Amino acid sequence: MTNIVTSVEIDAPFPRPPVELTSEEKSKHKNAIKRLLEEHNAVLIAHYYTDPDIQSLAEETGGFVGDSLEMAKFGAQHEATTLIIAGVKFMGETAKILSPEKRILMPTLEATCSLDLGCPIEEFSKFCDQHPDREVVVYANTSAAVKARADWVVTSSIAVDVLEHLAEQDKKIIWGPDKHLGRYIQQKTGADMLLWQGACIVHDEFKTKALEQTKALHPDAAVLVHPESPQSVVELADFVGSTSQIIKAANDLPQQKLIVATDKGIFYKMQQKVPGKELIIAPTAGEGATCRSCAHCPWMKMNALQVLSEVFEGDDKEIFVDEALAEKALIPLEKMVNFAKTIQSEVKSNI
Ligand code: 13P
Ligand code: SF4
Repeated sequence: MTNIVTSVEIDAPFPRPPVELTSEEKSKHKNAIKRLLEEHNAVLIAHYYTDPDIQSLAEETGGFVGDSLEMAKFGAQHEATTLIIAGVKFMGETAKILSPEKRILMPTLEATCSLDLGCPIEEFSKFCDQHPDREVVVYANTSAAVKARADWVVTSSIAVDVLEHLAEQDKKIIWGPDKHLGRYIQQKTGADMLLWQGACIVHDEFKTKALEQTKALHPDAAVLVHPESPQSVVELADFVGSTSQIIKAANDLPQQKLIVATDKGIFYKMQQKVPGKELIIAPTAGEGATCRSCAHCPWMKMNALQVLSEVFEGDDKEIFVDEALAEKALIPLEKMVNFAKTIQSEVKSNI
């Protein structure tokens, strides 16, 4: 039985998008970043939602592009002494907790996430204290402090497996912060979950009616949906999964047209995997000037080339996590990494 429990309103202005660069400016910045990575024994690790220029640069320089779990694992295993994390702040913090001996830099520490913002440790901790009989499972899109309060950390690629595992042991769960992902997992696993009421500002904007119209226009298309989307959107999906799972499904599904409800940054990798298929972005609330996210995370977008080229300048780009907190947060993070090793649902190696 799912009970809707609590939420925190977030009132964060969206960051202003970075200035568009000309192709000359882009190649100047790319060359400078390549030099700097070598000079500093650094490796660039980018999330699927960052802009194509950032993803291609990570690939060209022997770095990595992936989902948040894969980014964490790649960084921990890589020999570079400095990791440049192009993504949002929780990804940098996770890298630091898993690799405390490494220097973790981010193009900007202001790149955050509505789920992280909507789950402050004080309120979340009170919520957990009210239910001491429940295991606390949190999404990776949270602060180090929230992870330190948790028994388990999961990413969307492994969430269903972990909750299935806990449901089999009749564990009662507190889940935070994404309400849509929580409800999706609850329905898939039958786990007894109390849900924090956070949401992703990007996925929350996908719209059912408009998606039905898009489906009607392309009746031969498959619909692929990230489970951070509202239930009515998930119900229209032919496939529901995390970023890596969606990319794999794009390849496995027989349809030649795909309507995709997740951040459009994912199209860079998808196009590489299925160059012959037609990719259509699922409709969001409003269009152009009136849409808020336009299916692209405004914080991921802050990882622009011109900002990345200054990553070694100044002292405001490095991630630090309080040592005591990091020690506590490492426990549920390592549990997830070890759990991932034991299951088949890790899709990246098959893509
Ligand atoms: P992944 O865990 O699939 O990388 O997703 C992170 C995220 O921010 C989704 O919106
Ligand atoms: Fe957070 Fe959503 Fe941006 Fe992912 S896409 S980082 S969940 S705001």
